[in-house]
Amino acid sequence: MTGMGTLGRVLECQVWWARREDVRPWHVDLLNDTERARRDRYRREADRDRFTVGVAVTRLAAGALLGVRPERVPVDRTCPGCGAPHGRPVIEGGPQLSVSHSGDLVVVALSRGGPVGVDVEQDSGRLGEGIVRQLLGSEEVADLRDLGAAWLRRGLLTYWTRKEAVVKATGDGLRVPLTDVRVSAPDEPPRLLSWKGRRDLPGRMTLRTLAPGPGYAACLALIDQPDPVIVERSASPGLAEPGSWDAGQ
Ligand SMILES: CC(C)(COP(=O)(O)OP(=O)(O)OC[C@H]1O[C@@H](n2cnc3c(N)ncnc32)[C@H](O)[C@@H]1OP(=O)(O)O)[C@@H](O)C(=O)NCCC(=O)NCCS
Repeated sequence: MTGMGTLGRVLECQVWWARREDVRPWHVDLLNDTERARRDRYRREADRDRFTVGVAVTRLAAGALLGVRPERVPVDRTCPGCGAPHGRPVIEGGPQLSVSHSGDLVVVALSRGGPVGVDVEQDSGRLGEGIVRQLLGSEEVADLRDLGAAWLRRGLLTYWTRKEAVVKATGDGLRVPLTDVRVSAPDEPPRLLSWKGRRDLPGRMTLRTLAPGPGYAACLALIDQPDPVIVERSASPGLAEPGSWDAGQ
C-alpha cells in the first residue's frame, strides 16, 4: 500500500472511512482538553463514539501528513458564529479538512490543495417530503418530479449530501439557506450550478459522489481543485491499536 508520505506529496485528497464500532479507549488519549469536554457532553453513546472516531481519524491522518504526533496536531474548532468549540475544524497551515458522521459511518476528508467539504447521510427515511421546502429550489423540485416517485427518497438524500458538502467546503454550514444553492439533478453527475449571491463559486467548486456502501449516500466538495486525485480508504485498521496507523496504513 502507498505510504502516507507519498500521499502528502502528490496533493491527493484523502477520504478516510471509519465505523462507529472502531472506537477504542486509547482514542480518548488523542483528544485535547476542549475535545474531551465536548465528548463528555454527549449524552448518547452513539454520538460520543462518532465524535471520538472523527477526532481520532482527523488527528491520526493529519499527524501522518504533517509528521507530528496525533495529539499534537493543532486543531481549532472555534465557531465563528458564537465562539464555542463546535465549528469547522481548522489546522493552521493545512491540510484543510472536513468531517461527517451518520448512522454507523464516520468520514474524514483531508486536502492540501484547498478547502474541502464532505457529507455522509444514512438512508434512514428521515428526509421525507417535509424537507423539500427547506432543501430544494423550484427548478430542483421540477427535476426531482421528472424522475418519478421511485426517485423521491434517494433523490432527496442525493440533493442533501451534495448541498451539505458544498456549504461545508465554504464553511457556511446551515447558516445559509440550502434553497439558494442549486445543484445538478440526482441522476446526473454532481455539480454546483448556481448559488444566489456567490457567482464565483460554481466555476471553482468540484463535486464527487463517494461510495460509502449500501444504505448511505455521500458527496465530496472541493474548492479550486479542478482535477482532484481522490483516494478513499478504510481507517479501521489504523484505529485498532496504538501505532497501527503508522505501521503502513
Ligand atoms: C456543519 C453542519 C452543516 C453539519 O451538519 P450535520 O449533518 O449535522 O453533521 P455532519 O456529521 O455532516 O458534520 C458535522 C461536522 O461538521 C463540522 N462543522 C461544523 N461546523 C461547520 C462549518 N460551519 N463548516 C464546515 N464544517 C463544519 C464539524 O467537524 C462537525 O463534526 P464534529 O462533531 O466532529 O465537530 C451543521 O452542523 C451546521 O451548519 N453547523 C453550523 C451552524 C452554525 O454555524 N450556527 C451558528 C453558530 S452556533
